[in-house]
Amino acid sequence: MCGIIGYTGTQDATQVVLAGLKNLEYRGYDSWGIATHPAIAITKRVGKVGEVASAELGRSCCAVGHTRWATHGGVTQANAHPHTDRSGSIVVVHNGIIENHERIREQLSHHAFASDTDTETIPHLIEHHMESGLGFEDAVRRTVRELEGSFAIVALHKDSPNMVCARQGSPLVIGIGDGEHFVASDVTAFIEHTNRVVFLEDGELAVINGTLEIEDFATGERKGVKEQTIDWSVEQAMKGNYDHFMLKEIFEQPETVAATLRGRINGNALPEIDQALLAGAERIVIVACGTSWHAGLVGKSMIEDLARVPVDVEYASEFRYRDPLIQDDTIIVPISQSGETADTLAALRLGKERGAKTISVCNVIGSTIARESDAVVYTRAGPEIGVASTKAFTSQLAVLAALALALGRAKGTLHDARYRQLTKALKAIPALITTILANAGEAKRLAQRYADRKNALYLGRGPNFPIALEGALKLKEVSYIHAEGYPAAEMKHGPIALIDKEMPTVFIAPKDATYAKVLGNIEEVKARGGKVVAVATEGDTQVAAKADDILFIPETDHLLVPFLAVVPLQLLAYHIAVLRHCDVDKPRNLAKSVTVE
Ligand code: AGP
Repeated sequence: MCGIIGYTGTQDATQVVLAGLKNLEYRGYDSWGIATHPAIAITKRVGKVGEVASAELGRSCCAVGHTRWATHGGVTQANAHPHTDRSGSIVVVHNGIIENHERIREQLSHHAFASDTDTETIPHLIEHHMESGLGFEDAVRRTVRELEGSFAIVALHKDSPNMVCARQGSPLVIGIGDGEHFVASDVTAFIEHTNRVVFLEDGELAVINGTLEIEDFATGERKGVKEQTIDWSVEQAMKGNYDHFMLKEIFEQPETVAATLRGRINGNALPEIDQALLAGAERIVIVACGTSWHAGLVGKSMIEDLARVPVDVEYASEFRYRDPLIQDDTIIVPISQSGETADTLAALRLGKERGAKTISVCNVIGSTIARESDAVVYTRAGPEIGVASTKAFTSQLAVLAALALALGRAKGTLHDARYRQLTKALKAIPALITTILANAGEAKRLAQRYADRKNALYLGRGPNFPIALEGALKLKEVSYIHAEGYPAAEMKHGPIALIDKEMPTVFIAPKDATYAKVLGNIEEVKARGGKVVAVATEGDTQVAAKADDILFIPETDHLLVPFLAVVPLQLLAYHIAVLRHCDVDKPRNLAKSVTVE
């Protein structure tokens, strides 16, 4: 939800932190701030991360920074982080939500608070414990034990050489450099400096001062430092020669789908998952949010078709508050690009409490959902910076396809010929996406025609109904045009009343078992004066004759059409958003990772 970063080392800390904040802006960007150490100097501003001369804060070798997505307290300079205690000796940046902040304010009612945020209670509570005789580090330990809710914090005290950080329910990763340390919400903040990382676990606190010590903050037990190496290059995390991350990431899909499939469809099994676990699965419950939920719907089609195992696809935010029916042979499959979505994490934990085994599909190595699952199959999409998910979505489809194949083999429902047919078709998908991208100009041309519309309807059937939902979500979240996705047959049960010459209807109309029905639906729209944009199979003259505009995709197995049909819709949404001068990579009101409920 917010981005935090801390630095201690030999570089100009202000500039290191500022650059890191810019890389973290996709997590939230309504205000930002930096504090230096040990001479505590703070600058805080509303709006996106700007510039600050080191002279303004005084050159230092240690600093913390924060870019905010407001949850408690409006978007004001006073509410921007960092926050301090009353004397300004203690500085804290925080990502998460302190659920007992009101009780802490009551407990410290003699304190004057400068903001209306939940976060400000943290430095005040640290101050309170120091007044009772504890040293800074122990005061932080006591404080984090008393906090309820979710937090990733970095704390400094003007008289202590230590940078103290802790996490519970929000991500925090430490970067180990040559004589320097970084701590941030994710690796994008410091990847240009080091790829040596340590992911903090929930309940852990780290003290950094040229050395790194990690402990369990509930028990004080020292923990080992589990260092990993991230293989993301700086380039991957940067925009390349594209105007926006979203466009770059759309064009990365041939590579990211290929990378995600690599080593996972060559034999009968998925290397990351125990075959016995799959063989014993009698039901699958996918839990996810947003685009990841749409991927789950496509996964349902593939798994039920190939493995004949019933699949429920649940909004994580609904599932977590129900009393769900979970049996021992149920597998919960959380799908999450960030691996930190609060509702999906809560759904995972509920499933585990009820005895289910869990296999997560995540894009961020070491993310909380990944680490709390029994098994994880990572999408190898690399950092997805654009708030609107694109390459992560098709990589999620790739994992789900591989899972469906492995499950079908484990259950004995997928015979050799069909397995070979599908793995061959899957291996061809990256090249087919490349073909679509080679004609990206078509979507750009169409965008000119539809950029000024107020509404849009997206329709699809079978495995392409989720693509109608995804196409509509892409359009609305980057261009702010209202758009709805529906099963095509459902049009006559209400949405048809909306048809007029102003509202385009986008059909996903591949040559498959329901093709004739979709043709009929296109006729129904045309008969009422509606404009039709069709995503159709290359060479399909029937649809071309009926639709006002057409976006062709190559032919593939009916189960794999979603990989291809989504790409022109991603491009259409992108180009319409650009024409409408929207902030494509950071759409208003949205954040890349929704780590609050
Ligand atoms: C997708 O374009 C959106 N940004 C959003 O719906 C996203 O898919 C959702 O918040 C889930 O995020 P996750 O995959 O990181 O859990």
